Amino acid sequence: MSEVKKINIALLGLGTVGTGVYKVLKSQQEEMPCKIGAELVIKKILVRNLEKAAAKVDDPSVLTNDWNEIIQDGEIEIVIEVMGGMEPAKTYMMQALAAGKNVVTANKDLVAVDGKELLDMAALNQKDFLFEAAVAGGIPIIRPLKQCLAGNHLSEVIGIVNGTTNFILTKMTEDGMEFADALAMATELGYAEADPTADVEGLDAGRKVAIMASIAFNSRVTFQDVYTEGITKITATDIRYAKEMGCHIKLLGVARNTEGGIEARVHPMLIPSTHPLAAVNDSFNAVFVHGDAVDDAMFYGRGAGELPTASAIVGDVCDIARNIRFGCTGRISCTCYKNLPIMKIEDVRSRYFLRMQVEDHPGVLASVASVFGNNGVSIEKIIQKTKRGDLAEIVVITDSIEGRHFDDSLKIFASMSMINEISAVIRVYGHS
Ligand SMILES: NC(=O)c1ccc[n+]([C@@H]2O[C@H](COP(=O)([O-])OP(=O)(O)OC[C@H]3O[C@@H](n4cnc5c(N)ncnc54)[C@H](OP(=O)(O)O)[C@@H]3O)[C@@H](O)[C@H]2O)c1
Repeated sequence: MSEVKKINIALLGLGTVGTGVYKVLKSQQEEMPCKIGAELVIKKILVRNLEKAAAKVDDPSVLTNDWNEIIQDGEIEIVIEVMGGMEPAKTYMMQALAAGKNVVTANKDLVAVDGKELLDMAALNQKDFLFEAAVAGGIPIIRPLKQCLAGNHLSEVIGIVNGTTNFILTKMTEDGMEFADALAMATELGYAEADPTADVEGLDAGRKVAIMASIAFNSRVTFQDVYTEGITKITATDIRYAKEMGCHIKLLGVARNTEGGIEARVHPMLIPSTHPLAAVNDSFNAVFVHGDAVDDAMFYGRGAGELPTASAIVGDVCDIARNIRFGCTGRISCTCYKNLPIMKIEDVRSRYFLRMQVEDHPGVLASVASVFGNNGVSIEKIIQKTKRGDLAEIVVITDSIEGRHFDDSLKIFASMSMINEISAVIRVYGHS
């Protein structure tokens, strides 16, 4: 073995992921020189509370609450940011890159909004800025998209990229639970945060879609470009009807490269139970990719958690360490060399599942069909389900249509006295 280089690392944050990174680097300490020809040494760990952090490390002298001790240390070559949030994380990463340090982060909130600025700063300084852990935690997806699948024109990336919502929907599907009960269970088991908004409203998944779409289609998509809709309105009844139709309801992140532009969206969707993503349950994540050369490929695994997320981060660190050894940092930088338009959600075509409570008398179904017909919406099927007093429940599945035509029909339904309630609107996977 050639001479082993010592590479000094600074860790920013020692929470869930930071602790995982610390443990993984410790457990790999002896093997790293053989694997990558370098010894990885955690020289400093930035924390807010030194006392609280001391119990988590073997040697508390590595702890600091002063960023200057890290940014001014010329021996530190890699900074791992796992504090989360926008600031001071962004400033620290920009300063680290400007000072000639390589940066690894798991911060999807920041990468989905300011990724370009950080990548540009890395390129300017010929350093690496890597963020494998920012999408789907432990599942390798950024590197496969950038590197292993570079020989493809990718047309579609669809994923279950939020473990909390997938756990909730799995409980609703398998145990017939309502949303609120399944959320309470997810909170109790530690799958949901105290404020679950970012997960259940699809925001967390939206950030990951922005990052994946940018890389897959070589054109910048930011979080603000992604349409997001969560799972809070999904009921056990919708799940039951989906099952009757041979479908599962999943919160899907969808990125498609179409002739009209890039579709970037997160929303619940009925997908056939035979689709590989329908079998992804509990807190697991999966990303399904279609390319012109590879055809279909799926990546599956743990989308979050202390050690799975640390696994992705340490993978990035190893890549950088190899680059440092061979003097070739900045090898894979920003790959957004196109400027494709982003489609508005009302222009995106989809099939729809619509559940409504209507007055139970002749002519109502014909009126519903007529509103759809007048708005250019063709119906795949319309089924009358249960009756409750004077009301009947009907379920409509439309053909694939532009969102605007469906929305126009909904506005009219909302104003019709014979329609008592619009109970559910959920998109349906695939084209009729
Ligand atoms: N958890 C996961 O499974 C997961 C998966 C993928 C990506 N990520 C991303 O990884 C990042 C970290 O997540 P996490 O779950 O590990 O969060 P966490 O448990 O809240 O840990 C964050 C840590 O950073 C520290 N910190 C925050 N601001 C700081 C500052 N200004 N100076 C020094 N220390 C600071 C916090 O200290 P205090 O304890 O004093 O507040 C805390 O220990 C986030 O960007 C998240 O989106 C997490």
